[in-house]
Amino acid sequence: MNRTRTAQGAKTLPGIYYTAAGIWQQEQERIFSRNWLYAGRASSSVALVDICGESLIVTRDGAGAARGFYNVCRHRGTRLCPESPAQLTHTIQCPYHAWTYDLSGNLIGAPNMHEVASFRKEDYPLHPVAAAEWAGCLFVNLDMDAPPLSQALAPIWDKFEAWQLAELAVAHETTYDVAANWKLIFQNYSECYHCPTLHPALNRLTPYRNAGNDLEEGPILGGPMRLSDGIGSMTLSGQRCAPPLAGVGGADLGCVYYYTLFPSMFLSLHPDYVLIHRLQPLAVDQTRVACQWLFHPTALSQPGFDPGEAVAFWDMTNRQDWRVCELSQQGISSRAYTPGPYAELESMIAAFDRAYLHALAAP
Ligand code: FES
Ligand SMILES: [Fe+2]
Repeated sequence: MNRTRTAQGAKTLPGIYYTAAGIWQQEQERIFSRNWLYAGRASSSVALVDICGESLIVTRDGAGAARGFYNVCRHRGTRLCPESPAQLTHTIQCPYHAWTYDLSGNLIGAPNMHEVASFRKEDYPLHPVAAAEWAGCLFVNLDMDAPPLSQALAPIWDKFEAWQLAELAVAHETTYDVAANWKLIFQNYSECYHCPTLHPALNRLTPYRNAGNDLEEGPILGGPMRLSDGIGSMTLSGQRCAPPLAGVGGADLGCVYYYTLFPSMFLSLHPDYVLIHRLQPLAVDQTRVACQWLFHPTALSQPGFDPGEAVAFWDMTNRQDWRVCELSQQGISSRAYTPGPYAELESMIAAFDRAYLHALAAP
């Protein structure tokens, strides 16, 4: 496959980017508080989302649009929802003094506050955050003035319709806590130079030289990787767990597509299922990774449907990756670490580093 060589001369980032509290703080303010972050699959009911050290409430308003709010009461600041409501609710009531909000964030009830002459309910709506959906995926942005999600995702907005992403359902989800900086996990996903050493099973299904890129610069990076002859998908056996997704045909039946969506999501599109990784940085050396395996509801409802081979394959691969990410964090934390040269097979990491430094330097 065609490969644009962009790693020439590029080196890994200095250690402070993986270890310094000051950089971490800057990232929180300039990257995670300003960009659209993947929050999970869109749900029809009220959901809680933890992002950037904040608890957010995501609802749907009367028109069905996603709306996001800080989980903070406008009376005395109490956390409104300690946990996601099990049922669809139509109001959000504070557990302290029962101030009540509708799903658009308006304060609609404030017991006894009529005794305060200056009090007007309309002055105290929930503090909003931006929320929007793409292909059944919910994104939130703490910056209400950020460009719309459609602009942030423009390179892929219509790109994956064949995979019917909007319709897919989560068949399995696993969450991992990884003792490594979030960027090490992005960088690990962005190359297959390590595949022969670390992932012999994966490398049999997709030899590492089969990788190509069709988005090579900017916040969304990645491209196709060709499956070996006779291989149907990325599973333990190499055979598909489900029929190909309805729109996937031709050459796409022989490929997996891998993309990183800066700064919170990986999207891996297989002929028969889609894998989503959600990254949530918890500390400079700690990242939570939630991994979802999505299949079409028609496949899910078939008697005997079993996603186990796809789940086990990526769970094994994930754990292999997290281990080296943790070892990288340990080595980079040494005073002996100095930036090393990227291989040509790591050109997407060099592109990630550029996008990252650009975002970090934003005024
Ligand atoms: S703090 Fe929420 S109603 Fe008083
Ligand atoms: Fe890997």
